[in-house]
Amino acid sequence: MHHWSILSLYLLFIGTCYCQYKPTWESIDSRPLPEWFDQAKFGIFIHWGVFSVPSYGSEWFWWYWQGQKYPSYTAFMLENYPPEFTYADFAPKFRAEFFDAKEWVDIFSSSGAKYIVLTTKHHEGFTMWGSKYSWNWNAVDVGPKRDLVGDIATALRTHSDLHLGLYHSLFEWFNPLFRADADNHFNTTVFPKTKTLPELYEIINKYKPELLWSDGDGDAPDGYWNSTGFLAWLYNESPVRDTVVTNDRWGYGSICKHGGYYTCTDRYNPGHLVKHKWENCLSIDKRSWGYRREAKLSDYLNTEELVGALVETVSCGGNLLLNVGPTHDGRIVPIFEERLRQMGQWLKVNGEAIYNTTAWRVQNDTVTPGVWYTWRPKENAVYAIILSWPNSGYVVLSDPIVSHSKTQVMLLGYKPLTWDSVNPTGLKVYLPQLTPDQMPCSWAWTLRLTGAA
Ligand SMILES: *[C@@H]1O[C@H](CO)[C@@H](O)[C@H](O)[C@H]1NC(C)=O
Ligand SMILES: *[C@@H]1O[C@H](CO)[C@@H](O)[C@H](O)[C@H]1NC(C)=O
Ligand SMILES: *[C@@H]1O[C@H](CO)[C@@H](O)[C@H](O)[C@H]1NC(C)=O
Ligand SMILES: *[C@@H]1O[C@H](CO)[C@@H](O)[C@H](O)[C@H]1NC(C)=O
Repeated sequence: MHHWSILSLYLLFIGTCYCQYKPTWESIDSRPLPEWFDQAKFGIFIHWGVFSVPSYGSEWFWWYWQGQKYPSYTAFMLENYPPEFTYADFAPKFRAEFFDAKEWVDIFSSSGAKYIVLTTKHHEGFTMWGSKYSWNWNAVDVGPKRDLVGDIATALRTHSDLHLGLYHSLFEWFNPLFRADADNHFNTTVFPKTKTLPELYEIINKYKPELLWSDGDGDAPDGYWNSTGFLAWLYNESPVRDTVVTNDRWGYGSICKHGGYYTCTDRYNPGHLVKHKWENCLSIDKRSWGYRREAKLSDYLNTEELVGALVETVSCGGNLLLNVGPTHDGRIVPIFEERLRQMGQWLKVNGEAIYNTTAWRVQNDTVTPGVWYTWRPKENAVYAIILSWPNSGYVVLSDPIVSHSKTQVMLLGYKPLTWDSVNPTGLKVYLPQLTPDQMPCSWAWTLRLTGAA
C-alpha cells in the first residue's frame, strides 16, 4: 500500500465517528450496561423545583390545581393566595436561601448511596440550570438566581465519589408548543426540536452526568421525541458515551421494554428475579416525590421498611433509588436526613451483602418468610438477610446446600454462629442472645454462608 493511502485511511479513521450504535431500538438495546450501575445498588432521588414552593399535595400540584378535579387544591389556593395568583408567581418564592450543596452531599454520602438523580426539569418545565432554551423559566433568571444543577454537580464531584445522575422530563404539561404538537397528533415536532432535544444535549455536554433518567413521554411515541436518534448520539459521540447509563422512559410503549435499565412503574418491586437490570424508585413519603408540608409521620416509610425494600430489590437483581423532596428554601428536613443516615449505618455493617453482589439461584427462602438471599460468586459467599429477629432463637434456611466439614456461618458485624443441618436440605442457625448494644445493627441482619452451595 502507498504511503498516501495509509495517510488517507488514517485521516478517515480519526475524522469519523464509529457510530457503533444505530438509531434503532434493536441497536440501542444491544449496548451492555456500564458495570458501575449494577454494582452501586443504591441511589438517592431528589425531587426539587417550583412545586417545592406550594409544597402541598405533590409535585403534580400545577396539574391537579389547573385540572380542577381535585377540590383540595382549589381550596388551598383560595385560602392562601390572592385570586389572580398564577403558578408562575411561585417561582420568585423559590429562593433556596438555606441551600448548601456540600451539606447535601454529606447527607447523600452518609446514606451509603453510590449515585444521585436530581430533577433538572420536571413536567412544570422549570429548568434548574440556566438553560438557553427556557427563557425566564429557569433557576438562574428567576428564584434562586443560581445554577442549582451546577452547584450540586460540583459539590458531588469535589466532596464524594458518588455518580451524578440527572432526571429530565421530555414533555411539559402546559407548554404551548407541546400542546400544539399534541393537537396535531404529534405529526409536528416543533417542541422536541426546539426544546426537549436542545436541553438534553445541553445538560449532557455541560454536566457530563453518568446517568440520565428520562421521564414524561406525554403519551407521545418515541419517534416524536427522536429518542433512538438522541440515544445513538449519547452512546456513540457524547462526552459520557462510555460510562452513561439511562432508563426506559423514552416514549409511549418504551417503558419496561427499551432503552437502558428498566423502571417499569414507580415503586416497582416485583418480588422475583428480573433478568434485565432494573431499578425500584421509591419515595420516603408514600404519597409524594416533592416535599409536602402536610405530610404526617405515618406517611413516611420507616427505616425498617426502607432497609427491607433495599434488601428485596437487590435480591431480585434491582437497584433502589430512594427519593427525598427538599424544601423551597433548600433544606433536606431532619426526618429525611435521619432515614438516609440510618440507611448508611445499616450499610456500614451489611454493605458486603449489597454492593457488587449478584442475584443468587433463590431470591427468598422457600420455607421461611422474610429471608432474602444475595451472592458474591468470586468469594463463593451466600448472604441470607433476615428481615426480623426470630423469638425462637434460631432461623431455618431451607435452600442452601451445606456440608459439616466446609460450611461456616457468620453474623455480619458479630461472630461466627453454630448451626445444624436439616432435612432434606438446609440448615438451622442458632442466633445469639444479644443485648441492644451488642446488636450489630437495628433492622435486618445478615448471615454470611461460606462453603455452601
Ligand atoms: C397524524 O397522525 C395520526 C396518527 O399518528 C394519523 O392517524 C393522522 O392521519 C396524521 N395526520 C394528521 C393531519 O393528523
Ligand atoms: C434525530 O436523530 C437523528 C438520527 O436518527 C439525528 O441525525 C438528528 O440530528 C436528530 N435530531 C435532533 C433534533 O436531535
Ligand atoms: C465494588 O466494585 C468496585 C469496582 O470494581 C470497587 O471499587 C469497590 O470497592 C467494590 N465494593 C465492594 C464493597 O466490594
Ligand atoms: C417470597 O417472596 C414472594 C414475593 O414477595 C412471596 O410471594 C412469597 O410468599 C415469599 N416466600 C415465603 C416463603 O415467604
